[in-house]
Amino acid sequence: MNAPASFDTDLVPLYADHLATMKRRADEALARGGFDHLVVPSGTQHWQVFDDRDYPYAVNPQFKAWLPLTRLPYSWLVYTPGERPKVIYYQPFDYWHVVPDSPSGWWVDHCDTHIIRTPDAAAALLPPAARSAILGEPQSTLGDHAPNNPEPVIQYLEYQRSYKTPYEIALMRQAQRLAVRGHRAAEAAFRAGESEFGIHMAYCTAVGQDANDLPYGNIIGLNEHAAVLHYMELQRVAPDPLRSFLIDAGASFHGYASDITRSYAYDTGSEFQAMIDAVDAAQQNMCAGVRSGVDYRQLHVDAHHTLMGILKDFGVIRVSPEAAVATGVSAAFFPHGLGHPIGLQVHDVAGFAASDRGGRIERPAGHPYLRMTRVLEPGMVVTIEPGLYFIDLLLEEVKKNGHATSVDWARVDAFRPYGGIRIEDEVLCTGGDADNLTRPAFGEAD
Ligand code: GLY
Ligand code: MN
Ligand code: MN
Repeated sequence: MNAPASFDTDLVPLYADHLATMKRRADEALARGGFDHLVVPSGTQHWQVFDDRDYPYAVNPQFKAWLPLTRLPYSWLVYTPGERPKVIYYQPFDYWHVVPDSPSGWWVDHCDTHIIRTPDAAAALLPPAARSAILGEPQSTLGDHAPNNPEPVIQYLEYQRSYKTPYEIALMRQAQRLAVRGHRAAEAAFRAGESEFGIHMAYCTAVGQDANDLPYGNIIGLNEHAAVLHYMELQRVAPDPLRSFLIDAGASFHGYASDITRSYAYDTGSEFQAMIDAVDAAQQNMCAGVRSGVDYRQLHVDAHHTLMGILKDFGVIRVSPEAAVATGVSAAFFPHGLGHPIGLQVHDVAGFAASDRGGRIERPAGHPYLRMTRVLEPGMVVTIEPGLYFIDLLLEEVKKNGHATSVDWARVDAFRPYGGIRIEDEVLCTGGDADNLTRPAFGEAD
């Protein structure tokens, strides 16, 4: 998928280490659950009701954690401590569709691979169900091998998945590079006057991925549409005049996601551009705050204060940032979380996990959409995605709650036609300074 020529070779030793880590984690998870085998189906196709059309296949994340195989339904990973992983690889005889290639790539030498031609043929290759932790969805049931998803096993594996291996970081960096190609093409399409749909197509073409490949549906909003947090309508006609553009779009690379947001003003001399620049500078400071030992909840609350400082500077709020946060006014302008864990899933698992044995770290009161409440540790990758929006529904609430005088409504009227601003990067927590995975990819592209 368009990686540098040396990239696959570089991954060989990294994958060996990654697999060693996966085995160690599985050994511990199985011991905790009292099982002898880890069994992970890749997942099956799903059919639309009363129809013969299948939904796009989505691989079981527990499967792609072991193997860079994202298009291999009806296959299985079996791991027994002390043994090489067994890959039951479904390669049907099929002249209607393209069948998966024969096994190849950096993983092959590390696994014992068994080709099967029918889904049922996997049964004879699976270990006894009663001794197996089977991680998957109910539809993957094969005979008596029904996913049991034991809590102690899942909790341990998902918690440990927060700590990305160097192999995973290498794949995530590549997912950044791919997405940045799309972001550059999208910006050019915006400047050229394309519609949201046209921008989306330019993005997909530049990345080489379409809706089935991308880690989530592209959010591409022009003008007021930038105020809809998950705007996915993709209008076919560009508005006139063009004022602003928000794009939240990522890419996938061997099952790993990137998730990047940028905001643009059509008139780069405008006050809205100045507000974007202020959010961008603040966002980079927030990214620098991704350090070991820092409570992500504190980063989120700090972001509220910083963003309200920007609104104060631009004359949108009349009260101090502290007052805006205390009264809930800030939540009308910044109504989502600062970010979330990311990796195999765009909203990756274990953002609330109190330990690898369960428990949950609750969100701070008044912040119902935060997806990450843990203290940062080396190896974690999180997004940092502050935003400021002009959303009538929420601004009406400010009035209803008796805080109308906290806001300069003429200034809201001035900014409303631009919708909103969000800037989003991925940041790796290290033992030292934050490692922003996204910004260097833009730097390379320039
Ligand atoms: N693209 C969804 C998010 O930023 O979380
Ligand atoms: Mn995003
Ligand atoms: Mn995100």
